[in-house]
Amino acid sequence: MSPFSKLLVFLVSLCVLLQVEAKVFKRCELAKELKNKHHIPGSQLATWMCIAKYESDYNTSARNTKTGDHGLFQISQIYWCNNSNKPGKGCNAKCSDFRNNDIRDDVACIKKIYAEHQKLSGNGFNAWVAYKNHCKGNNDHFIKGCF
Ligand SMILES: *[C@@H]1O[C@H](CO)[C@@H](O)[C@H](O)[C@H]1NC(C)=O
Ligand SMILES: *[C@@H]1O[C@H](CO)[C@@H](O)[C@H](O)[C@H]1NC(C)=O
Repeated sequence: MSPFSKLLVFLVSLCVLLQVEAKVFKRCELAKELKNKHHIPGSQLATWMCIAKYESDYNTSARNTKTGDHGLFQISQIYWCNNSNKPGKGCNAKCSDFRNNDIRDDVACIKKIYAEHQKLSGNGFNAWVAYKNHCKGNNDHFIKGCF
């Protein structure tokens, strides 16, 4: 291959890679993935959708550099993930892994955070500021027409 072709292949690969790395979900796409692939209980689904909407606008690569929160559900590096290249803290995870398009680890971690706060306050959702501010009412419209 000519140097130019090599460069072209490299750039195309890079674009593909970046696309795989980050993802902005459509509303029902996320609702279906959470329920069908990650077994979020039906009774909690609309509330999780509301939280994801207000925390990240369904953008898996969302990052708050001020508070140190990562991904769809803005998981905190203070307690739950290591903001370095080695997994650590409560979810034994790398924070950067919460910003890719594979949300399996994010979901495992939010289930853990939820359980912890359920014990602490009687409502696991209290861990999320977005919940307190926006998601305490009826959230059915976040899953409307999806199933
Ligand atoms: C998703 O979040 C990333 C990181 O904050 C940002 O660079 C990107 O523009 C966002 N995508 C959309 C479609 O908002
Ligand atoms: C985070 O990762 C760094 C290495 O990058 C390591 O030194 C440190 O111990 C880790 N922290 C935790 C809490 O696991």
